[in-house]
Amino acid sequence: MRVRDKVVVVTGAASGIGRAMAVRFAEEGAAGILVADLDEAGAAAVAERIGDRAKAVRADVSVEDDVREIVDTAERSLGQIALFCSNAGIITGHGVEEASDEEWSRTLAVNTLAHVYAARAVLPAMVERGGGYLLNTCSAAGLVNCPGDAPYAVSKAAAISFAEWVAIHYRARGIGVSVLCPQGVRTGMMREDLKDENLTARAVISSGAVLEPEEVAGHVVEGLDAERFYILPHPEVAGFFQMKA
Ligand code: NAI
Repeated sequence: MRVRDKVVVVTGAASGIGRAMAVRFAEEGAAGILVADLDEAGAAAVAERIGDRAKAVRADVSVEDDVREIVDTAERSLGQIALFCSNAGIITGHGVEEASDEEWSRTLAVNTLAHVYAARAVLPAMVERGGGYLLNTCSAAGLVNCPGDAPYAVSKAAAISFAEWVAIHYRARGIGVSVLCPQGVRTGMMREDLKDENLTARAVISSGAVLEPEEVAGHVVEGLDAERFYILPHPEVAGFFQMKA
């Protein structure tokens, strides 16, 4: 999977890892980049930074109609989607005794169901065209549980499981699926984590280093190009896990 001359969608692209991926895909020669985020102004700023090949859309990925709108807008204004990066995510920082029902529902909707909505929206056209690629940002917290946030860990584990399901069932139909499982990336989300010193220490130790979002975007491009299979922790990629159908 090479992004050159392809149309890509990135959700949660107004900041952090999503923004770094969108910018990096543009540098790699993507033909069109759909920058989707709940943060309308942030998405517009990223699209403006990229230029004419980018289009910004305000969308809440936990709402299925919004995800369909992302796909429709991308296909209408940029062209057929080759790569959909379902990347938006939230964290509550709450354990099992503190997290409210609302926090459980919201976290599962944004971190897990959004991947389901994206797959429903893009897979039919991709299958009809004979191929396509999904890159779902999950988390090391979905592989190895980390302290502090019960809804987050559960939502990310379910997201990994869903990606595996799609990979297995759509492999023969030309669909590639990768899972990005970072840990300790210096973004808005990471700064929240830094408030908990124990969590930070664990995150730093198990990934080897705190990564900049741009480094993660670089690993994504390399991983997609080489179609390699990574399991965390991997010395080359420090916190990047990729699953290939
Ligand atoms: P971030 O907070 O900088 O970016 C998340 C983006 O998602 C924001 O722009 C936010 O506006 C957007 N967003 C949140 N809810 C949304 C919704 N309902 N609809 C549309 N957009 C929404 O955080 P970061 O770190 O860049 O997170 C990106 C992904 O990486 C997330 O899925 C996160 O769980 C994952 N991740 C991050 C790690 C880290 O250490 N930073 C570690 C492991 C995973």
